[in-house]
Amino acid sequence: QKCDLAEKRTQVVFGIGNPNSPIMIIGEGPGEQEDKTGIPFVGKAGQLLDKILESANLIRDRDIYIANVVKCRPPGNRTPLQDEIAACSVFLQKQLELSQAFIILLAGSTALKALIDPNASITRQRGEWIEWKGKWVMPVFHPSYLLRNQSKEVGSPKWLMWQDIKKVKQKFDELQNDKK
Ligand code: URA
Repeated sequence: QKCDLAEKRTQVVFGIGNPNSPIMIIGEGPGEQEDKTGIPFVGKAGQLLDKILESANLIRDRDIYIANVVKCRPPGNRTPLQDEIAACSVFLQKQLELSQAFIILLAGSTALKALIDPNASITRQRGEWIEWKGKWVMPVFHPSYLLRNQSKEVGSPKWLMWQDIKKVKQKFDELQNDKK
């Protein structure tokens, strides 16, 4: 009930997956399907995300914990407002604190700006590792953006996403081996 989004939501979409997962993905906020089911990234964008992860042998239920910057659906899927992001940040901060993830993917501009720097640019910073609070953070395009840009040509958003996911898998394998 900390912000006005509570009034129109069907339910809170808190997070899903094993909090001991090595990778955490942070999106923007629930869409229609997420609001209906209570589970993050189950709509079209979520299905694409699953496919991208699977192409790098990363399995959602096994390797990933997923959450969003805001836990309630913004009406009409608009971008969450600053005060909504601020009201919800206590929940995300706690999720981050409790998570065992050593790699964090920030999916899209809202997550990058909310977590790292309000002036950050997803176009400039995607694909670059950020060392943050003892974790490796990688900003990547939001899957909804990829749904609007279907080309797979070299240099296209989908192609860039594939490069970024390969980097994530490489870091994941390196860090897993270090632990052994
Ligand atoms: N988009 C997001 O950012 N998060 C979801 O959970 C679904 C779509």
